[in-house]
Amino acid sequence: MRTKELAAAAEKSKKKAYAPYSKFRVGAALLAKSGKIYEGANIENASFSMTMCAERTAAFSAVLNNERKFEAIAIASDLDGYIAPCGACRQVLLELCGKNLLVIMLNGKNKVKKMKLGELLPYSFNNF
Ligand code: THU
Repeated sequence: MRTKELAAAAEKSKKKAYAPYSKFRVGAALLAKSGKIYEGANIENASFSMTMCAERTAAFSAVLNNERKFEAIAIASDLDGYIAPCGACRQVLLELCGKNLLVIMLNGKNKVKKMKLGELLPYSFNNF
């Protein structure tokens, strides 16, 4: 697994966050089976609920580039502790990337915690 490369890409993407309201920047880097890495960052809105998370911007960007199979996603934030994907992102990642997606959560000290998406979202709803 290209963990270091993905972690570095997530940190780099974090700098592209548009987060003037929360001031909480999140970056994501999604590795497709093609070998390409898709970046994501959170993009906020004055109408707060319109905000889009980093994980979903990465997943949507990948799908728009015809990717359908994925290996891993790394997530970076300004937290000291490990950043875990929110519930909405878990559901969307499950749909687009599947339960075997490796989720690489970074903390502020360049350490990682790895879990499968299926562990983060057990007994999930899906339509197929
Ligand atoms: N955020 C993400 O980008 N990903 C997550 O998994 C959790 C939250 C963003 C949304 C919002 O812009 C900011 O972090 C504070 O919630």
